[in-house]
Amino acid sequence: MKVLVIGNGGREHALAWKLAQSPKVKTVYVAPGNGGTAADPQLHNIALTDFNALADFVQAEKVTLTVVGPEAPLAAGIVDVFRARGLRVFGPTRAAAQLESSKAFAKAFMQRHSIPTASFATFTDVALAHAHVNAEVGQSGAPIVIKADGLAAGKGVVVATTPAQAIEAIDWMLGEGDNKLGVQHNDGQARVVIEQFLEGEEASFIVMCDGKNVVPLATSQDHKRLLDGDEGPNTGGMGAYSPAPVVTPNVHAKVMHEIILPTIAGMAKDGITYTGFLYAGLMIDGQGQPRTIEFNCRLGDPETQPILMRLKSDLFDLLMHATAGANEGTLDQVELQWDRRVALGVVMAASGYPMNPRKGDAITGLPGELPDACVFHAGTAARDDAPVTAGGRVLCVTALGDSVKLAQQRAYEVLRGIHFDGALYRRDIGYRAIKR
Ligand code: AMP
Ligand code: GLY
Repeated sequence: MKVLVIGNGGREHALAWKLAQSPKVKTVYVAPGNGGTAADPQLHNIALTDFNALADFVQAEKVTLTVVGPEAPLAAGIVDVFRARGLRVFGPTRAAAQLESSKAFAKAFMQRHSIPTASFATFTDVALAHAHVNAEVGQSGAPIVIKADGLAAGKGVVVATTPAQAIEAIDWMLGEGDNKLGVQHNDGQARVVIEQFLEGEEASFIVMCDGKNVVPLATSQDHKRLLDGDEGPNTGGMGAYSPAPVVTPNVHAKVMHEIILPTIAGMAKDGITYTGFLYAGLMIDGQGQPRTIEFNCRLGDPETQPILMRLKSDLFDLLMHATAGANEGTLDQVELQWDRRVALGVVMAASGYPMNPRKGDAITGLPGELPDACVFHAGTAARDDAPVTAGGRVLCVTALGDSVKLAQQRAYEVLRGIHFDGALYRRDIGYRAIKR
């Protein structure tokens, strides 16, 4: 069989790598892919991004199944285009992807269906938003969270610790200097969601949904801040590991019953069948109560890299079950098998990430195939057949180990052999899990 992975990040490299391991898969195409998927003889990059051109390719090449990695094509309706042409694709429709593409939609949805989340208010008017901040912060003195309503590659959220920071963030997102963050606004106009600051520990909870059945993947945690100790600006994610010790069996059951299942049921009730990966970003408080910080309509990056290193089941089989029918699959027939070891991935980013990543630096020292580690590529390209940096997050060095500490040691051991000028990486990925 032939499969197609849409996207060009580390998550897509991991999806393609895992799909290529299936004995049923002969060819894995990646569109557009990156330097790592280009260099792997088992994977084939194709330089297409237009949805109809991709669908033409799938029909011409008789590709059995397409899986979509990133949020942008999902929010733009790639699944709707493929389905309308009778093609098998795993991902949410444009309407379902609003759970990620619009914070205002997601918050109103959670409120309507009593799904635990931070209290919030939505604004289009700068003066009203300022007044809200002054009233709220004046009362509690606590930090307050300002979010742009639209896709912003993880950069549209400001956790303001002073009213002045909150006002500045609102002005960025709504005011004169609108859109310094490069947010893709939703219909109408710029909007911000202002919400209560939640305390606790974050975890990523990702499930597969076929429209009816829900299968949770292994749990994970990522590190969104740029610097050690979870300091500095938010990024797309600087490293991740699986499983997440904070998700105890009790927390897991609560997440399924209070968040995931009511979300899928709530979407169905609102007339939107949810298919695809669904990622709930959680804040888990000291009493083990989970609340939803955000939904993503896709796998996490870099969470996917450690999660898929631990997946023993055949991913192609899973995706075929998940897409057995357009609105109803057979995921109830599968049971996932996981490696009992911990997997941990460390992102190596380019100098200047996240605001202004430099491109074109030569990458040396990439290892060949290793039994317990894998270097997934993200922002890389080939120059004269040699790898160079080509984006913010460049590589995710991922390793397995019998404990978080051993997986961490192994990942950093592999990482230390790899070089490019200006490489940025955190030295403490996994520290929360080691501290526990
Ligand atoms: P989001 O894009 O909504 O996931 O937000 C990015 C990051 O901002 C999250 O991973 C959290 O670290 C932080 N954050 C967002 N909302 C809240 C909140 N209500 N309380 C505390 N931290 C938050
Ligand atoms: N690592 C966070 C995300 O994929 O959204």
